[in-house]
Amino acid sequence: MTAVTARAHTNIALIKYWGKLDQKLIIPQNSSLSLTLDQFYTDTTVQFSPKLQQDQIQLDEQQLTGPAAERISHFLNLIRQQAHCQQFAYVDSTNHVPTAAGLASSASGFAALAAAASRAAGLRLERPALSRLARRGSGSATRSIYGGFVEWQQGHDDQTSLAIPFSEEVDFDIQMIAIVLNNQQKRVSSRSGMAEVVATSPYYPAWVKAANADLIGMKQAILKKDINLIGQIAESNAMKMHATTLSANPPFTYFEPKSLTAMQVIQNLRQDGYSCYYTMDAGPNIKVICSAKETPAILERLGHFFDQQQLLVAKPGPGVQYL
Ligand code: ADP
Ligand code: DP6
Ligand code: CO
Repeated sequence: MTAVTARAHTNIALIKYWGKLDQKLIIPQNSSLSLTLDQFYTDTTVQFSPKLQQDQIQLDEQQLTGPAAERISHFLNLIRQQAHCQQFAYVDSTNHVPTAAGLASSASGFAALAAAASRAAGLRLERPALSRLARRGSGSATRSIYGGFVEWQQGHDDQTSLAIPFSEEVDFDIQMIAIVLNNQQKRVSSRSGMAEVVATSPYYPAWVKAANADLIGMKQAILKKDINLIGQIAESNAMKMHATTLSANPPFTYFEPKSLTAMQVIQNLRQDGYSCYYTMDAGPNIKVICSAKETPAILERLGHFFDQQQLLVAKPGPGVQYL
């Protein structure tokens, strides 16, 4: 069987997915909405082979073993079932994004793997089916099948929970600056962080309610191409998500001291009249939502606090593609 290579870009949620209704099928507690980014991506090559006795998985030139390999083999089993394929696979993946640092490597990683492995196994999946498949690897990967603004519609089962493009072509000036404060693996994965929150935070039901309302506002803001409104809603939604970790039992946080510094710099820039807002995922790094035309001034200010190589500018990016 032939080797297939796919590239998928990461996406950053403006309305977060944070909690599952079904852990096995990865059905979320709320719909979410993201922007796919052009600067961060994963390339994954898959080849099934009758010569292998088990899957052989490389990530960034390291052979994976233990739970890290099992998560991927388990995902490949879903594809083997669908394709009636009994062979094991070589997987070779390269992340052009820090792994497990809250910059959405699981989104680009499983979207690229879904695309490459399904085609390598002889399946020809259209994008809705690919989105549903990627969801089984990591929820956020559902959205990385598409470019631009993407909605993951919650649905209620495997068939109905999938992403649809909200606007793949982004014809306004929005972009994101990633402030990479710490590119090391986080201690609490997204998966276990959200499970802890669902199980123990008394604020969790309020999160779901707020996220549903924020999603309606966000769609209107995107249709209006209103960066201030997009930013306000995204920032508020992210902080509500992080309030659920502080209110979990035991409490935890993804904030680091430098995350707070970055937030304050952005707030100060706003007081000076710039349209910039922050969002943050399950990790300490900050993403600034802003316009391309104000980016040079925002970078200049951030440069007083952070090294230039910590500041990465990303524009809206494309959906999954075969190389
Ligand atoms: P992140 O914020 O980077 O998405 P997560 O905790 O959600 O962090 O997920 C990290 C996990 O995603 C990794 O431990 C690994 O299991 C998986 N992952 C990351 N990159 C890849 C990849 N290229 N291919 C397959 N799985 C990946
Ligand atoms: C905070 O998709 O990484 O980034 O489905 O368990 O793999 P699993 O989790 P993951 O969670 C992402 C959480 C988030 C918000 C988001 O991307 O919507
Ligand atoms: Co993730």
